[in-house]
Amino acid sequence: MIASTYPFTEESHAVGATGDGRALVLLPMTPAAATVLAPAIASIGPWAHYNFAPADLEASLLVTGDGAIRYQLTCDGVPAGVVIIRSPWLAGPYLQILAVLPALQGTGTGTAVLKWYETTAMAARMRNVWLCVSGFNVDAQRFYERYGYTLIGHLPDLMRDGDDELLMRKSLAGLVIDASG
Ligand SMILES: CC(C)(COP(=O)(O)OP(=O)(O)OC[C@H]1O[C@@H](n2cnc3c(N)ncnc32)[C@H](O)[C@@H]1OP(=O)(O)O)[C@@H](O)C(=O)NCCC(=O)NCCS
Repeated sequence: MIASTYPFTEESHAVGATGDGRALVLLPMTPAAATVLAPAIASIGPWAHYNFAPADLEASLLVTGDGAIRYQLTCDGVPAGVVIIRSPWLAGPYLQILAVLPALQGTGTGTAVLKWYETTAMAARMRNVWLCVSGFNVDAQRFYERYGYTLIGHLPDLMRDGDDELLMRKSLAGLVIDASG
């Protein structure tokens, strides 16, 4: 049976390695991983900015059957981040959450995940990949722009008054899969 989140599946996915050679693997989210990851994610980035409660975040990491797939990102076997993908979304998937814990930030981890996200969508002949980034999160905007994502629209007051979210898209049409790893 084709997964309802096709082409993203409830399996282990090797996504590459950090700059210093530690293995990065996506695994299906588990209650034990959610317990560790939720408070850590709640204390960083947009989740801290929006005051997400760790318990609510933990519950949201364990939802199933809503068209999104939830992974724990592991580094040498240790939970180190969260990846949530909604697929299909709009002629391609939507990266709902990409969160790398602070100890791993700046090590090439986000780059490896983004590359795997795009390669997986391209292999399934999807035309686009999508994501949102907060207007205040200029470091993450720079990260996504570096990899070819462009601004499609401002979503004013999406999460709360006074904060914009930015919808970004990368067109995959005409791109060739890079098999160099
Ligand atoms: C944004 C993020 C996924 C990038 O992953 P990463 O493994 O740190 O990134 P890489 O090492 O592959 O690339 C480095 C780039 O990531 C971005 N980045 C690094 N630390 C970051 C941080 N704390 N917050 C946001 N972006 C960051 C910068 O653009 C950096 O490029 P620079 O060297 O020119 O400053 C990761 O830093 C993160 O999860 N940050 C906190 C949560 C967040 O903002 N997530 C994105 C929500 S849309």
